[in-house]
Amino acid sequence: TETPKSLFMLFGATGDLAKRKLFPSLYNLYRKGKLSERFAVIGTARRGWTDEVFRNHVKDSVLSANKHAERIEEFASHFYYQPHDVTDSDSYIQLKQLADELDGKYQLEGNRIFYLAMAPEYFGTISDHLKSDGLTDTKGFKRLVIEKPFGHNLETAKALNNQIRKSFSESQIYRIDHYLGKAMVQNIEVIRFANALFEPLWNNRYISNIQITSSEMLGVEERARYYETSGALRDMVQNHMLQMVALLAMEPPISLTTNEIRSEKVRVLRALRTIEGEDVPEYFVRGQYGPGKINGKKVPGYREELNVAPDSNTETYVAGKLMIDNFRWAGVPFYIRTGKRMAAKSTKIVVQFKDIPMNLYYNTNHDLHPNLLVIHIQPEEGITLHLNAKKPGQHMETTPVQLSFANSSKNGINTPEAYEKLIHDCLLGDATNFTHWDEVALSWSFVDKISQVWENKAISFPNYEAGTMGPKSADELLEKDGFFWWPVEDLEVCNC
Ligand code: BG6
Repeated sequence: TETPKSLFMLFGATGDLAKRKLFPSLYNLYRKGKLSERFAVIGTARRGWTDEVFRNHVKDSVLSANKHAERIEEFASHFYYQPHDVTDSDSYIQLKQLADELDGKYQLEGNRIFYLAMAPEYFGTISDHLKSDGLTDTKGFKRLVIEKPFGHNLETAKALNNQIRKSFSESQIYRIDHYLGKAMVQNIEVIRFANALFEPLWNNRYISNIQITSSEMLGVEERARYYETSGALRDMVQNHMLQMVALLAMEPPISLTTNEIRSEKVRVLRALRTIEGEDVPEYFVRGQYGPGKINGKKVPGYREELNVAPDSNTETYVAGKLMIDNFRWAGVPFYIRTGKRMAAKSTKIVVQFKDIPMNLYYNTNHDLHPNLLVIHIQPEEGITLHLNAKKPGQHMETTPVQLSFANSSKNGINTPEAYEKLIHDCLLGDATNFTHWDEVALSWSFVDKISQVWENKAISFPNYEAGTMGPKSADELLEKDGFFWWPVEDLEVCNC
């Protein structure tokens, strides 16, 4: 594929995301020859930086994420900085002048990617100005990349969407869900649709339940102001967790085009059983961490964190049971859990198959291990298949064994690879791994009904200790269905 040429206009260029993820990702693309020499980046933010200060900042960020720093000076020379006030038209007119100048200098043919990596309250305003101040008046492609959160609930998401749609069409909008850029999340489709083995079993006749865990050891860090208004349900479930559910549950698309995949995902979200009112406690559990220990070190509880209200009822943990009411999945629970300050940093999917019809090995083994397909998303990337086999030796005894594929070893935490992939996709104009408005709207409408109940019902927090796997009620959620959470620490990718 020809390397695309484009101007990146980055709003929020002095921010954390740009520094941790975007600059290293752009650099990696550059180093790998996936970014043509014909690219330029205009960074904007309030601070009165110069090009030189910005370039040094970019270099520092690349160097802190990357040992390889060849051609870093050349790379940094493509970066320009313009101080900016997002509400002021004059600012946009200056930006336009610089953009037009760089367009000529690098022969970018008017291709522009506007990347909004900043406070969400300005997404709409910026998008309005980009059009009204003429920044979108070029002959090349124009794309708007929007970071989360896309709204706070369905109503605010709709308002935001209506506003940005005044300046950009749906096909020009790239809503980031960085989980969709993760190698093993993309592998879900390949595992399912490129193997004869799984698809015939991928239904309620053979699968008993699916468990998705995304646990973090970090707390809220410096993001408490945002997190206090969000909580784990909005922060993780509305987007990343539901996206993984959609990929696991969707019907095989008729082809791998953006529209076909999206429409299959949308159908899953439409089939999600609505959980509302009195049903919520039966299906969803929330938690908040209290003081505890992470890696042997004492850490404060959520309510003691900076910028958190001392009586905060924000949930830092969610576990839920989702039902997909269609022919394929009727009766199969999809259990999800995610939280901060848990015992491990781990994202895994466990597909648990039903027990065999009868156990012929009861003399030697009462409980045969159920077959599991485990998709390890991070920090390790890989796939394991748990089977039963004969123990070596003369006796007929069974033992659980694992077939393993390691995609990478323990180095994957928070690497910029997901962003690298997503930025490249956006340059190529491939929106498959970005979320369509229909997905966003359906996810919000599912999540809103749960948060409405939670907001009106008091709860006694904290209810789990930092450094554990969450509140007891999350275990009970599965126990009442006869299941248990497969402990993530027992499910490592085996390199033996
Ligand atoms: C973000 C959330 O979307 O995902 C954060 O806002 C969370 O709160 C992060 O920490 C987790 O991402 P990852 O890639 O580390 O699993």
